[in-house]
Amino acid sequence: MASLALICLLAVAAAIAAAIAESAVAPGTKPNIILLFNDDQDITLGGTTPMAFTEKLMSTGATVDNFFVNTPVCCPSRTTLLSGGYPHNWHTTTGGCMHMNVMNDQFRQRTIGIYMKALGYTTGQFGKLLNPNGVAAYCAKTNAVPVPGFDSYLTMCNDNRYFGNTFTSNGTFVEKGKDPEDYLTSVIGNHSLDFIEASLQAGRPFFAYISPHAPHVPATPAPWYADKFSDKQAPRTPNYNYSAADHHYVIRSQPILTSKEGNESDALFRDRWRSLLSVDDITKDVVSLLEKYDQVDNTYILWTSDHGFQLGQFRLPSCKLQPYDHDIRVPFRIKGPGLKQGSHSFVASMVDVAPTIIELGGGTVPEEMDGHSFASLLMSDSSAPKDETRDRMTIEYWTLGNVIRYGHYIDMPNNTYIGIRLVNDTHNYLYVEYYQDVKEMKFTDKGFEFELFDVSKDPYQMKNLYGTPEADDQLVTELHEYLHKQVVCKGQEECKL
Ligand SMILES: *[C@@H]1O[C@H](CO)[C@@H](O)[C@H](O)[C@H]1NC(C)=O
Ligand SMILES: *[C@@H]1O[C@H](CO)[C@@H](O)[C@H](O)[C@H]1NC(C)=O
Ligand SMILES: *[C@@H]1O[C@H](CO)[C@@H](O)[C@H](O)[C@H]1NC(C)=O
Ligand SMILES: *[C@@H]1O[C@H](CO)[C@@H](O)[C@H](O)[C@H]1NC(C)=O
Ligand SMILES: *[C@@H]1O[C@H](CO)[C@@H](O)[C@H](O)[C@H]1NC(C)=O
Ligand SMILES: *[C@@H]1O[C@H](CO)[C@@H](O)[C@H](O)[C@H]1NC(C)=O
Repeated sequence: MASLALICLLAVAAAIAAAIAESAVAPGTKPNIILLFNDDQDITLGGTTPMAFTEKLMSTGATVDNFFVNTPVCCPSRTTLLSGGYPHNWHTTTGGCMHMNVMNDQFRQRTIGIYMKALGYTTGQFGKLLNPNGVAAYCAKTNAVPVPGFDSYLTMCNDNRYFGNTFTSNGTFVEKGKDPEDYLTSVIGNHSLDFIEASLQAGRPFFAYISPHAPHVPATPAPWYADKFSDKQAPRTPNYNYSAADHHYVIRSQPILTSKEGNESDALFRDRWRSLLSVDDITKDVVSLLEKYDQVDNTYILWTSDHGFQLGQFRLPSCKLQPYDHDIRVPFRIKGPGLKQGSHSFVASMVDVAPTIIELGGGTVPEEMDGHSFASLLMSDSSAPKDETRDRMTIEYWTLGNVIRYGHYIDMPNNTYIGIRLVNDTHNYLYVEYYQDVKEMKFTDKGFEFELFDVSKDPYQMKNLYGTPEADDQLVTELHEYLHKQVVCKGQEECKL
């Protein structure tokens, strides 16, 4: 079974290789690409601050200021990253990995590693790929299916812990203990370093996909960082512990955040920051290694996260799953050859990352991907058409059912929605349509609750303008129409910018 699956994958990989090969350049001249992909790292609550080395390093590169995730939950967002496809194209009503149908060859043949290998890259993946439901076949103790597209990997088999972790390493099941040297983030970091050094020694361009579990709960810090930041607390943003009576049901039905819950949320904030110190250590050691081999200027480093987080916003003590900026806006920083340094104000989203990486690697974006590369917009000698408008992205979320954190319902069946984030020189809006538990494949056009925020005036999304005299009805109609086309689109042609 396993070997048959492998043969099928190899055949497909070869076919893709032939299709993309014409754009490949001679070995040794390609830039290396490192993707640092964190788990639940926000940007709006100060989530990047503890990674001081990485922040400083990336300040010499480019920042995509308006970068958002297409869905604020782990497995679907990772599915989007890996495939360059919107969640709706992988959606299943029968289980899956948080509703994503990723346990099949069709998905396996479409992951970023496959395309990068076809472009001549040596590929490695270290850390969390998908949640356990998405990696069961790779984690089987006998006849494990190889993680497709990666020459070398240490892929997490469990989640939600930082010691005693299990992995599949090149197809072999590995269990780590509970000693300090078994600390998850450091294990991921050290394997990443080994892979990068081996690739540098071999003189082969590499694609390293490094995906720590930090700062995901339980956000256990490394023992040597456990005492840091003890004077910090979660930021009291204007929407912290705020009762938003005009928002959708999950939000408007929240009871107050008690003092105890506030303290729990503060403790989590501190541990999240502490856990990120070990991720910052990965960056430090990776950069030293690149310096040793004189490859700093020939390497792209990308840094982003699968979604943001909430710590008391609208009284939700923890977690994500909401369409507001604290959950959907994440860091996107990139450093490497030819980039125009500084801020870029166009809008991009997770679905665009795989296409962008493929273009940075010298390939052309595969027709089957829904996202669009923004690589050329980042270049200092930009040959990109200047009239290319990138001012919007779409959000999709299917409820996980009733989910309780610190005594609060943070998800309910009717927390199911599609939305759009629009940012251009004159408009900065969030528009969302909510549904009762959507079981079928497609969203129908009958949302039952709606939200509209003018984010330029209301950065914390506290005042729902929908149905009020302040709402721009023409804009709502335009956004509704765009949204409903986008949430059923498939492929480069159909999925518009
Ligand atoms: C995984 O396989 C690759 C390719 O064969 C090899 O270079 C690498 O050393 C292996 N990694 C481990 C941890 O065994
Ligand atoms: C390797 O592991 C050690 C602890 O065992 C840790 O101090 C170090 O930061 C790790 N390296 C990376 C790159 O994560
Ligand atoms: C929360 O923490 C504050 C400050 O440390 C403390 O005064 C308060 O008693 C704590 N609340 C509860 C319910 O433990
Ligand atoms: C939230 O607000 C209520 C009053 O509305 C207050 O009693 C409670 O202590 C606040 N919680 C926190 C964590 O600040
Ligand atoms: C949303 O779902 C909850 C839980 O099932 C239910 O109690 C509530 O009435 C629903 N709200 C609306 C507006 O349908
Ligand atoms: C921003 O988008 C809105 C909605 O499509 C549009 O009406 C407006 O003209 C755009 N502004 C700019 C500067 O492109």
